[in-house]
Amino acid sequence: MAVRMILKDNDITLSKQSRAVTEFNTRLHTLLDDMRETLIEANGLGLAAPQVGVLRRAVLIVDLSIEAETVEKQIIELINPEIIKTSGEQSGNEGCLSVPGVYGIVTRPETVKIRAFNRFGKAFYYTGKEMTARAICHEIDHLNGVIFTSIAERLLTEEELLQLAAGNQQDTGDEE
Ligand code: CO
Repeated sequence: MAVRMILKDNDITLSKQSRAVTEFNTRLHTLLDDMRETLIEANGLGLAAPQVGVLRRAVLIVDLSIEAETVEKQIIELINPEIIKTSGEQSGNEGCLSVPGVYGIVTRPETVKIRAFNRFGKAFYYTGKEMTARAICHEIDHLNGVIFTSIAERLLTEEELLQLAAGNQQDTGDEE
């Protein structure tokens, strides 16, 4: 496994459409393993293959509703994901590993049901709520060349970013 470089939003690759995965082979497994390592190292909630320069429909999301000791066990691999049903609406902060330091308000469905394939080509259904629904939509957008900043109602201001950072600092302080 290897940590891959995460492309930034000035890279044209991120605005391109990704193609479906057709072969569930060791090459795909290496890509997914590398993406897992990259996601964990970057401390993110999701990662799409185009973010590491591969224009294939494969994404990882971290489902925080899964009770596990490690993030590793909360990672869900979604190959060729298709949204089949959405319900409700949520509006909130969103960020992206390809757009460091930028956050924006994005409206997403509250619940998203998808059909996807696992790394061995087996189809399954998955339902994500709240943060997980947001992550699924965000990552599928990447497969279609869409970055959240282009669909955000607005980006957070300098002051709001400082408040966000202060909040995170507070959290860290509480844990120590
Ligand atoms: Co992103």
